[in-house]
Amino acid sequence: MTYQQLLIEVKNNILYITINRPQKLNALNKEVLTELAHAIASAQTDKQVQAILLTGSGEKAFVAGADISEFQNYNLEEGKQLAKDGHNHVFNAIENSNKPVIAAINGFALGGGLELAMACHIRIASDNAKLGLPEVTLGLIPGYGGTQRLAQLVGKGLAFEMIFTADMISAEKAHQIGLVNHVVSQGELLAKAEEILEKIKQRAPLALASAIKTVNAGVNAQIDGYQTEIDEFGNCFNTKDFKEGVNAFLEKRKAKFVGE
Ligand code: COA
Repeated sequence: MTYQQLLIEVKNNILYITINRPQKLNALNKEVLTELAHAIASAQTDKQVQAILLTGSGEKAFVAGADISEFQNYNLEEGKQLAKDGHNHVFNAIENSNKPVIAAINGFALGGGLELAMACHIRIASDNAKLGLPEVTLGLIPGYGGTQRLAQLVGKGLAFEMIFTADMISAEKAHQIGLVNHVVSQGELLAKAEEILEKIKQRAPLALASAIKTVNAGVNAQIDGYQTEIDEFGNCFNTKDFKEGVNAFLEKRKAKFVGE
């Protein structure tokens, strides 16, 4: 696929995805969502890619929400389909990615933008970032998993307050309540993400995939997270990387993982 709305680059085995509509504060239109779905899906089987860094173009916004101009005339069925397609092809695909995904939040993360960041496994924000779910100001509720993931990350009480009031919170406040893992200056944002990704890249890829599957299972009422953990833990024993990891530890050397 030739990407029109995303900047895509693989560097040091990290896939950099930059949403590139800065003049519209990187709002998620259909094209952005289609390209995101494609980029995430392709990364799953791309052996060059060990982890993914998702960010927005420019200094003002990560993503200022779903593109409001696109759904202004949608009816019940169209609205439902919009949410369903987003869940299935983008937001759940990111959450269930078999490779770790870090969001580098470089400015506004509102509505679908915060939902996108919350679908990622780790969030780092620049100190100018503002985060919120303002959908109720449009007569909507968050439709890309925000009602679920915000409550999971910060608890129901704070999630209700943010959704009810539609207030934006600062990066510092987001850090305080566990919505983002780190806050750094905008100039340090990518370096901080890369520092974490460099560590992650040294870990066993299949174990990381199992960890993602298992942590996610714990917040899915349809799945018994504890049983999934038992199954995935067992699967790890069947990998070359497990043997290499254990041998390296016992031989007091650094492990060399091959993802098998
Ligand atoms: N959908 C479509 N366009 C959007 C957008 C969105 N979610 N967010 C911003 N834009 C567009 C603006 O319409 C504007 O376009 P224009 O220059 O063609 O008029 C451009 O991006 C710049 O935004 P602007 O509002 O002028 O910037 P600002 O600094 O004054 O305000 C925000 C920034 C983020 C506070 C404001 O843009 C905003 O409230 N956006 C919507 C946030 C939202 O409700 N998101 C949830 C959607 S469900």
